Amino acid sequence: MDPVRRVLFVNPGRELGGAEHSLLLLLGALPGLGVEPTVAVFGDGAFQSALAWLDVPTVVLDVPERLRRASRYALPSRLVGAGLLATTAISSALRLATLTKQLKADLLHSNGLKAHVLAGLAGRIARRPVVWHLRDFPPGGLVGRLFRAAARRLPSLVIANSAAVAGAIRSEANSGPPVIALLNPVDLDRFRPGPVAGPVRAELGLAADTPLVGMIAHITPWKGHEDFLAIACAVGDAVPEARFLVVGGPIYETEGHAGYAESLRRCAVELGLAERVFFLGGRDDIPEVLAALDVLVHCPTAPEPFGRVLAEAMAVGRPVIAAACGGIPEIVRDGETGYLVAPRDIGAFAAAIVRLLGRPELRAQFGAAGRRRAEALFDVRAHATRVLDAYRCV
Ligand code: UDP
Ligand code: GLC
Repeated sequence: MDPVRRVLFVNPGRELGGAEHSLLLLLGALPGLGVEPTVAVFGDGAFQSALAWLDVPTVVLDVPERLRRASRYALPSRLVGAGLLATTAISSALRLATLTKQLKADLLHSNGLKAHVLAGLAGRIARRPVVWHLRDFPPGGLVGRLFRAAARRLPSLVIANSAAVAGAIRSEANSGPPVIALLNPVDLDRFRPGPVAGPVRAELGLAADTPLVGMIAHITPWKGHEDFLAIACAVGDAVPEARFLVVGGPIYETEGHAGYAESLRRCAVELGLAERVFFLGGRDDIPEVLAALDVLVHCPTAPEPFGRVLAEAMAVGRPVIAAACGGIPEIVRDGETGYLVAPRDIGAFAAAIVRLLGRPELRAQFGAAGRRRAEALFDVRAHATRVLDAYRCV
């Protein structure tokens, strides 16, 4: 009999970020491979609703507010705060260990920094192997050192969403568990090539030949929305008829996000972009949004661990211009499926966009190559099979 049948997943995000979208695709495929997943969530929200729709059972883990809101942007600077946070984490880990035993889970699979720590401790207490699905670069500073120490001891295996993230944790975890890189999957049926003139251009009153450049990212400071607005200004000088979409909502409840969405809208007005930039907020029709674009731009100011939107744009057959950082060069091929640009180089981004806007045949060529690459790299079933192979190793 297969030793891994029941898996308890732990996911801290209550809304749908990239980590949740990636996990949902895996969860949808696992039952077909004989695995019964249950997901411990930190509360209700879009993620739990999506799991209900998939028929994946969930359990709400009662996690105190203090721990839910802790983020890499605002970790307690004082010893007292850190001590309180640690106490909270231990009591939540104890609850998770009890749950693991009740569910007779064979393995814990964590998806998010806080979940790694909780599942890691719970696995020790309940004597179950733990797989960390690492989708972020480890934080810096003291917290980062503690996290790396935990990475050497708590998980039996680490799955990283790119070779870049795997390298970042592996370099100092030589003595620790195996670390494997596994790129995220994309629903290749939902994200498929479609016409530029569709519902999204109709909604915005844009003609099929209006040059349209988009950025799709949840509203969080490191995604580079300010840089995108500066790039839009520079492109506007050369291509005044170009229009820009900013797509994504403020989904994070953690510290460091309040008021940021509003400040971006003010910034666009101050830059004189009010007529050219459309802020669409969070959308659930990203395949249609992507189809409407001539080019997708991704300009994070910090290394992007993976960047699902890039893989999705390629699946829809759209060219991508992205910062050459983090896991991005593993997804986007420079001069083949789009262009890679030095991070934060506004002028280089603008030049690459202007070049592609002026060359429809090159856009089509990059788009077709992107779709082929997406089919080769991001298949959901292949991804789930590799996760299952990884389980068998622990
Ligand atoms: N997304 C969405 N609606 C939005 C913005 C983003 O459904 O308005 C999805 C997007 O299609 C992608 C995910 O959210 O699947 C974002 O993942 P990514 O890895 O790009 O970024 P993250 O936010 O996880 O860092
Ligand atoms: C995280 C990362 C993002 C990645 C996603 C899915 O949200 O920030 O780069 O695409 O997880 O693994």
